[in-house]
Amino acid sequence: MMRTHTCGGVDAAHIGQTVTFCGWAHRRRDHGGVIFIDLRDRDGLVQIVCDPDMGEGFHRAEEVRSEYVLRIAGLVRHRPEGTVNPHLATGEVEVLAQDIEILNSAATPPFQIDEDNINENTRLTYRYLDLRREPMQQNMKLRYRVAKAMRDYLDQQGFIEVETPMLTRSTPEGARDYLVPSRVHSGMFYALPQSPQLFKQLLMVAGYDRYFQITKCFRDEDLRADRQPEFTQVDLEMSFVDEEDVMGLVEGMIRATFRSVLDVALPDPFPRITWHEAMSRYGSDKPDLRVSLELTELTEVMKDVDFKVFAGPANNPDGRVAALRIPRGGEFSRGEIDGYTEFVKIYGAKGLAWIKVNEREKGRDGLQSPIVKNLHDVALGEVLARTGAQNGDLIFFGADEAKIVNDALGALRAKIGHEKGYAVQEWKPLWVVDFPAFEFDKEANRWVALHHPFTAPRPGHEDMLVSNPGACLSRAYDMVLNGWEIGGGSIRIHREDVQEKVFDALNIGAEEQRSKFGFLLDALQYGAPPHGGLAFGLDRLVALMAGAESIRDVIAFPKTQRANDLMTSAPNAVDEKQLRELHIRLRQPAGGPD
Ligand code: AMO
Ligand code: AMP
Repeated sequence: MMRTHTCGGVDAAHIGQTVTFCGWAHRRRDHGGVIFIDLRDRDGLVQIVCDPDMGEGFHRAEEVRSEYVLRIAGLVRHRPEGTVNPHLATGEVEVLAQDIEILNSAATPPFQIDEDNINENTRLTYRYLDLRREPMQQNMKLRYRVAKAMRDYLDQQGFIEVETPMLTRSTPEGARDYLVPSRVHSGMFYALPQSPQLFKQLLMVAGYDRYFQITKCFRDEDLRADRQPEFTQVDLEMSFVDEEDVMGLVEGMIRATFRSVLDVALPDPFPRITWHEAMSRYGSDKPDLRVSLELTELTEVMKDVDFKVFAGPANNPDGRVAALRIPRGGEFSRGEIDGYTEFVKIYGAKGLAWIKVNEREKGRDGLQSPIVKNLHDVALGEVLARTGAQNGDLIFFGADEAKIVNDALGALRAKIGHEKGYAVQEWKPLWVVDFPAFEFDKEANRWVALHHPFTAPRPGHEDMLVSNPGACLSRAYDMVLNGWEIGGGSIRIHREDVQEKVFDALNIGAEEQRSKFGFLLDALQYGAPPHGGLAFGLDRLVALMAGAESIRDVIAFPKTQRANDLMTSAPNAVDEKQLRELHIRLRQPAGGPD
């Protein structure tokens, strides 16, 4: 055996024992004559004392530099009075070295392993060094424990894990596909799965009843802090279930995971709100319920005001006028309000009207605002009544297409909520339900599925699929935690005729239905059971649990915002020969303009 103990695995109980560790030189301090080495491994740190008396080994201790790999044998002893380190698990003891073996030297690392503010590109380029850092090791261990807790829970509930292919046909989840060219079939491509959606449905047709998989999904979309081109889903599907069955089971899984991993008791049950209520009150389909601020609906109120900025959107069927009341916001400075006005412009807002309620009882004279002169008494009275504004409050307004108002005021709500102390430090999970089945894509001039086209319409809404797609609700549900969508799923269509109707509503013609989804439509003819499921974004869930800003911090080898792997330099140009074999000819040199 190379070692008897791990560095983090010794304490006062080992005093007097001779032990052997293997690890990395975390720090080395030369105290004129005596050399201290903090030796580190996955379990922790231990302080090694090298005394010149130790003989030959002392010369090797003198050679040791940061991140050298060492094997050290020594005697565990109590630290001298006054040098006990209460912040370290091994802080009561130190080890008097008897021998040191240098297993490997190390080049000077580009950053100190215990440094905090390291440039992220440097971290990603030297990810193997970044992963040595304590916070990253904690994140990776947390990720493993979360995945294990979920797997254990599903195992207990009778699920079996089945792997589905990575080289497959496109499964539409709303993003672009990553394509893999076929060498054998010239001009043909596999798509990497955006999710295992169709395969898990086929497993239900095959009678597997309860399936799960912790698996990679691939989506070529614009990347953000909570989005990676390849990410991990905890994906599951169940037969002979309705919404309540699926939501109850996965809610239990999340509660069990939080309890076992973080010792946190989440609410039981999670609150539920409809999609319409979420948009109306929070301007978001993934509201952060830690923030107490809410939007107030004013569209009806502003229809007949003599102020085009408000009356225009109020009379537009796609428009919305809403307010965001900030209790005690009257103290915000003009500079701050200007800052928030710039902020909402990111979301397409043209401005951010506001009213400071100084003395409500004085009517108009008690209000300070660039817009009150434009609002008649009735409208102004409604604003104050509906927002419930008190003296000292500030009311912001958004007026535009509903999407812009929701995005802008929704984001402003979260920003002010967290910056200005309107948020609690609690876990706030919820379900969002009763989603519309479709949304109208103006650019493409057609309806698109809000979830995916395999989601069942609400019972009784099947006829609306054709007559009034915009009013058709689906049987989809999303789980939201602290403002992040961590999971989504639905009850699926299990009848061929209904699936065809949905494809029709999406303007997917009969030929395209056959060519793209023929295998699914066929399968639905062979006794498909009612079924439904859900998929969690494991990266997002772990990032929230770890308190990480970005999912990159809980993925061992993530990609940058530009979808590069800085460590391996992927994507990269390939040989002419490889391209020829794949029947690909480049019009531009690799890496040229898009
Ligand atoms: P959906 O597309 O909502 O549903 O994905 C499920 C969950 O996966 C996470 N997620 C992502 N995480 C990181 N990077 C990304 N690019 C990314 N995209 C999605 C989110 C999301 O809630 N097949 C359906 C599930 C089902 O209907 O059962 C699906 O994939 O947390
Ligand atoms: P204006 O009449 O353009 O000077 O704008 C008067 C006030 O309304 C300013 O405070 C603007 O920031 C605000 N404003 C302008 N357009 C909008 C809009 N679409 N929604 C909300 N406020 C707006």
